Amino acid sequence: SRITSSRKREHLEICCDRQVEAGFSGFDDIRLVHNALPECDMSKIDTGVHFLGNKLKSPLFIAAMTGGHPDTAEVNMRLARAAQHFNIGMGVGSQRAALENPELEDSFTIVRENAPDAFLCGNLGAVQLVEKGIEWAERAVEMIDAQALCIHLNPLQEAIQPEGDHDSSGCLNAICELCSSFKHPVIVKETGCGISYETAAKLWGAGVSAIDIGGLGGTSWAAVEAVRADRDDLAETGRIFSDWGIPTAVSLVESSRFKGPVIATGGMRSGIDIAKSITLGATLGGMALPLLKPAMTGEEALFKRIELINRELVVSMYLTGAKSCQELAQVRTYITGITGDMLKNNKIPELK
Ligand code: FNR
Repeated sequence: SRITSSRKREHLEICCDRQVEAGFSGFDDIRLVHNALPECDMSKIDTGVHFLGNKLKSPLFIAAMTGGHPDTAEVNMRLARAAQHFNIGMGVGSQRAALENPELEDSFTIVRENAPDAFLCGNLGAVQLVEKGIEWAERAVEMIDAQALCIHLNPLQEAIQPEGDHDSSGCLNAICELCSSFKHPVIVKETGCGISYETAAKLWGAGVSAIDIGGLGGTSWAAVEAVRADRDDLAETGRIFSDWGIPTAVSLVESSRFKGPVIATGGMRSGIDIAKSITLGATLGGMALPLLKPAMTGEEALFKRIELINRELVVSMYLTGAKSCQELAQVRTYITGITGDMLKNNKIPELK
């Protein structure tokens, strides 16, 4: 667990200081239809949403990032204070290190201490779920008194790490078992390569409560591994795979053709992207990297960034004539370029 813990800290530093974004999210190919006659009062626009029985003030979701190293506690505290202040949801980073070594729990428990009323999600890797089962899932939720548990999938990152877990057999079965007996909602999330229509069908079939698509176009774990690599061949593999995956906008359309709610994460970079994601079927729009940088600077920088994103969302809603996120979901979009081509040439009859 000492290795897991020090890697957490290294990840934060690399993500802040180096170029770790790769690929494209597809949101540049999406355009919201402008409404020159909004016929409403911008100050009365309500960005509130319901998600898994919780009322949130904005669809902006603080995506899973950190915890598990004493140095990450301050960042988690600031993110938690933001979640509490803005009444938005937040996911913590993988709790594996703290489950292995309870001395590291403080960097997670600080989140609930600073966000007593916020919607919080725990986080565990699918591979750990296979090994440790529901006992770890329960301990992860208890640690932060979470409302839901995220199970993350990261086969690309594991595959290119020499010390990674290269056997993902049994993940779907473990998710299925967890969903059938767990008292809390289970959210399955990718971490930068997206969820396809076929994978979404399997996950909804397993009984998940929500999917976080974690698509291509934002933070690339292959790019992070390329920076971390101490061998040229490993760095090369990381670079080669840094734009592997399904663009977030495409993954979103494919995954939201089912009944359950979807979180759009991966390369969401403004309130306009959040608005676009809602018109494509998302309930929430998650951001990691854009919030990490101000969170490392300080609480004021983080609060300002979130205010800006929320304002961009409100202006987007006003300019499409949407007074609520429900109305925004009905707004028409133009889909062009590679994103349009991918959605047309996907061989999924229902999506055409
Ligand atoms: C992450 N992400 C992540 N996801 C997860 O499920 N468990 C984790 O522990 C982490 N850790 C983590 C650390 C850091 C520093 C970053 C930037 C990201 C992935 C994250 O939740 C998200 O899915 C992707 O980063 C894509 O979103 P962005 O960064 O493009 O907005």
